[in-house]
Amino acid sequence: MKKVLIATEKPFAPAAVDGIKEVTDKAGYELVLLEKYGSAEEWKKAAADADAMIIRSDKATAEVIEAAKKLKVIVRAGAGYDNIDLDACNKKGVVAMNTPGQNSNAVAELVFGLMLYHVRKNFNGSSGTELRGKKLGLHAYGNIGRFVAKIAGGFGMELFAFDPFVDGKEIEKDGVKPLGSEKELYGMCDFVSLHIPSNDKTKKSIGRELLMEMPEKAVLVNTARKEVIDEDALLEVLEQKPGFSYLADVAPECREEIEKRFPGRYVFTAKKMGAQTAEANINAGIAAANQIVNFLEKGDTSFQVNK
Ligand code: 3PG
Repeated sequence: MKKVLIATEKPFAPAAVDGIKEVTDKAGYELVLLEKYGSAEEWKKAAADADAMIIRSDKATAEVIEAAKKLKVIVRAGAGYDNIDLDACNKKGVVAMNTPGQNSNAVAELVFGLMLYHVRKNFNGSSGTELRGKKLGLHAYGNIGRFVAKIAGGFGMELFAFDPFVDGKEIEKDGVKPLGSEKELYGMCDFVSLHIPSNDKTKKSIGRELLMEMPEKAVLVNTARKEVIDEDALLEVLEQKPGFSYLADVAPECREEIEKRFPGRYVFTAKKMGAQTAEANINAGIAAANQIVNFLEKGDTSFQVNK
């Protein structure tokens, strides 16, 4: 009997686990659940005889991949796969996949949660500002950027995007103005929402040059990855632009310093929670389970990221 291991330090909603189990039961697989594990050792032990694994932001290091002796496929139930050691997967002939788009709406809704909470002064009762009529820049126009654009239309925001990988005409179709450079986007928007992945090219790419371009009272919203920010530059901009704010679902390493030095100019969630909704968990979890069955039964490698 094939074994599928769900290894999630941050558990799925119970309904998502039920949905995954329905898929694996139907395929005649055993499903094992490892939630809130305390150490990589615990995960390695549970992974030893797994044919497939479903994970979230869990760090699938070379050590974990190597410990999973029978592993054939690992699916990141979500978009970003910067947490999977792809070299280790390649070395072992393990197929790695993601489930793009399945949790995008949840992340997009959180962008507005963060912005509203901030412009309404953390709901402390004092007079705030509105989103209507403000310029919102989308840094990358993938699945999440598109959902953000859709919601922003309802708020009456003016929309701009920079994404060198998406045809400008496609962006325009959604009522969003495509821009030719990051610099232009950061230079003209009241809010910039980050939706770039974290990889060798993007790590620390949001630095002094871009941040200093932003208007005095600009707000940077990061529901992507903390690694894409140059934190020294972020602290410098917060210091030099007294109206600048940083809202993040992926709190920076310098969180405590920002909280101490720049009150009222940040919002950080307690734990990364952009995709932490029942709907996102169900969509991404069930998609992951179906992808595993399709791969193990039919060799379907759709959504493979380590080709
Ligand atoms: C993703 O890449 O899909 C999101 O960052 C969600 O991550 P999570 O599954 O850890 O909530």
